[in-house]
Amino acid sequence: MKILGENDINEACNILKSGGLVAIPTETVYGLAANALNKKAVKSIFKAKGRPPDNPLIVHISSLQDINYLACKIPEVYYKLAEKFWPGPLTMILRCSSIVPDEVNCGLKTIAVRFPANNIAVNIIKGCGFPLAAPSANLSGKPSPTSVEHVIEDMQGRIDAVVDGGICKIGVESTVVDLTGDIPLVLRPGGITVNKIREIVGKVNIHSSIYGSLNVNVKPVSPGMKYKHYSPKAKIRIIDANQNEYIKFMNTCKEERAFALCNDEDIPFLKAPFVSYGSRFDAAQQARNLFGALRRLDALGAALAYARIPERSDEGLALYNRLMRAAGFEEIKIEH
Ligand code: TXA
Ligand code: MG
Repeated sequence: MKILGENDINEACNILKSGGLVAIPTETVYGLAANALNKKAVKSIFKAKGRPPDNPLIVHISSLQDINYLACKIPEVYYKLAEKFWPGPLTMILRCSSIVPDEVNCGLKTIAVRFPANNIAVNIIKGCGFPLAAPSANLSGKPSPTSVEHVIEDMQGRIDAVVDGGICKIGVESTVVDLTGDIPLVLRPGGITVNKIREIVGKVNIHSSIYGSLNVNVKPVSPGMKYKHYSPKAKIRIIDANQNEYIKFMNTCKEERAFALCNDEDIPFLKAPFVSYGSRFDAAQQARNLFGALRRLDALGAALAYARIPERSDEGLALYNRLMRAAGFEEIKIEH
């Protein structure tokens, strides 16, 4: 796998034009890109990631005009949201045109589109002249990559190149909102909060899977919902406790190689080994650090890690959702 820099955009484009796979930086996480209109190239994304074949891909565009040939029956709310949040960490699901291969949307007849806010990504899409299908550039089930090192760890020997764009600014994936129904439906919380979307479009629904695991009998709207995600080798457990209870729990924990996946404010009180993912009072910092912290636990040889449950409001909702998924939705309540 070649490691390219921001001066190698042409080389990245040439690989993509010949049907290859290139991991590219975006403002959320690194994406594993291929020509979205080349069926064979798209198929090879699934192979490289070990991705379940029924989990569709987001298509990345580099201008608002691109939507005209990719989607149809576009609702008014799309234009309002695109004007406000694009380029940026919002993915919108629309009905797709016939140009979109089934390999991209797994036969769903819809398309998830995003215009990323990262110059390297935008210049690569522009240089290619076609949209890029790109899931997060991790092995399926692992935490999403927020640095070039994370991509190399997972994708060495599986893809043609990665473009180094440094650390991703946001660190959690885009918010996914389905606009194919009467009321916009958030399928995944992410870089744009639900309240910000509400300010623009009024009523917004939040899919119940965001708060808990999907009932096995419900057909998932977003196939990605039903898979376990973001799991390092270490087992993650979520504790519903206040800070004192959490510290006490950790300091009396007898399990081997048990770590605290904690906030900076906990560090002075902890006797247990720990990995912090940032200040309790800085949700943006926590989002930026969370996936790296999950990978760090493995590097340190943690067998399991306990984290406190994050707030479910605003920016906290994306963190809550990622941590709960990493923990397989198991939560431990401490008796008050
Ligand atoms: O920030 C992001 O969104 C990153 C960067 C690389 O853009 N991409 C990303 O892709 O997170 P991925 O594949 O890891 O997650 C895409 C999610 C999955 O849960 C998938 O099921 C859902 O979007 N999705 C994609 N197309 C869909 C569609 N047509 N209908 C419903 N859900 C869709
Ligand atoms: Mg992913």
